[in-house]
Amino acid sequence: MAVMGFSSSEVLMLALLLSACCVMQISAEIRTCTIHKSPCFLKKIPCPAECPSATPTDPKAKVCYVDCESPICQAECKNRKPNCNGLGSACLDPRFVGADGIVFYFHGRRNEHFSLVSDVNLQINARFIGLRPAGRSRDYTWIQALGILFDSHNFSLEATPAAIWDDEVDHLKLHYDGKELDIPESEFSAWQCPENKLRLERTSSQNSVLITLPEVAEISVNVVPVTKEDSRVHNYQIPDDDCFAHLEVQFKFHGLSPKVEGILGRTYQPDFQNPAKLGVAMPVVGGEDKYRTTSLLTPDCGSCIFSAGVASEQKVPVIDHGMLDCTGGANSGNGIVCRK
Ligand SMILES: *[C@@H]1O[C@H](CO)[C@@H](O)[C@H](O)[C@H]1NC(C)=O
Repeated sequence: MAVMGFSSSEVLMLALLLSACCVMQISAEIRTCTIHKSPCFLKKIPCPAECPSATPTDPKAKVCYVDCESPICQAECKNRKPNCNGLGSACLDPRFVGADGIVFYFHGRRNEHFSLVSDVNLQINARFIGLRPAGRSRDYTWIQALGILFDSHNFSLEATPAAIWDDEVDHLKLHYDGKELDIPESEFSAWQCPENKLRLERTSSQNSVLITLPEVAEISVNVVPVTKEDSRVHNYQIPDDDCFAHLEVQFKFHGLSPKVEGILGRTYQPDFQNPAKLGVAMPVVGGEDKYRTTSLLTPDCGSCIFSAGVASEQKVPVIDHGMLDCTGGANSGNGIVCRK
C-alpha cells in the first residue's frame, strides 16, 4: 500500500526513523555503511546541517551522501540534478563547462556520435541529434544519448523523441549490457547492477537520474525539450512534430588518468591548454575527426584510449555482495539511516 507516494517499506523506515531519532532530538540524520569491507562499516556519520537528509522531500534540496568506499567517513552534500553552469556539465546546443571552468561549444554533427570522455577504464560517448534549417552553414545539435563503457560492460541512456513535451511522461530509455531496464517511475527508485559497479537512481519521478560508477564517476542527467521559446530566441526553427528531447548532463569524476581524452575529458588533463577563445560570446572548439566514434557504444575515435576489460577492480575495494540488494527496487543503496 502506498501512503502519500511512499511505498510501505519507506513508511516503515520513516516510522523507524521517527521513533529512533526524534526521541533523541537529532535534527540531521545519522547514516552508516553496511558493507563489511567499507572503512566506515557501522560508523555513525552525521549529515551536515546544510543537507540533513538523504531523502529530502524537496526535490531541489541537496542530499546527504556518504561515500562508503572512502576512508574519510564523513557525509557530504550532493546536488542530485545537473548544474549546467557547474564544472563538467554539457547542456543546451552542446555547451560544455570544462574542468578548468572554461565554457566552450562543440557542434559536431546531427546523427553522429562523439566521445565526451575516453580514459583507460572509462569511455563515455554521446549521440548528437539536431537539424539544419535552410541556408545555415552548420547543424544545430543537442546530446540525445549517452553510451558508457567500463570494464567489459556497457550502459546507455537515451532521451526518447516526442512531438510535444509533457513533464509527466518519462522520456528515458536505459540499457545495461544490452538489456532494457525498467525502473519504476517514482522518486528515489533505484537499480544497481549485479556487481555493484553501476548504480542508478531516479532523482525525480520522471526524466532525471543519477548514475554512479563507484570510484569512477557520478553522472546526473535531466531530459529536457527544446522549447518554442528557445527555438524563437536562437532561431532553431524546431518543427512542430519534434521537440528534440535531449540531455542536460553533469559529470563528476574520480581518479581520471592524466591522459584522459574526449571533448570534455581532455579538460581534466593536468596540463591542458583550452583552445576555446576567451572573451568571445560562443567559443567553439573543433576536433570532430579526433572524437567521432562509429556508434554510441564503440570506443573507436582517433583519440580514444579506452580498452575493454581494464577493470577499475584494482582500485575498488572488495564488496560484500551479501549485504547488497541487487534485485532492484527503491532504496537498495549501501547507506542506511539512523540506527541507534
Ligand atoms: C553490451 O554488452 C553485452 C553483454 O556483455 C554485449 O552482448 C553487447 O554486445 C554489448 N554491446 C556493445 C555495443 O558493445
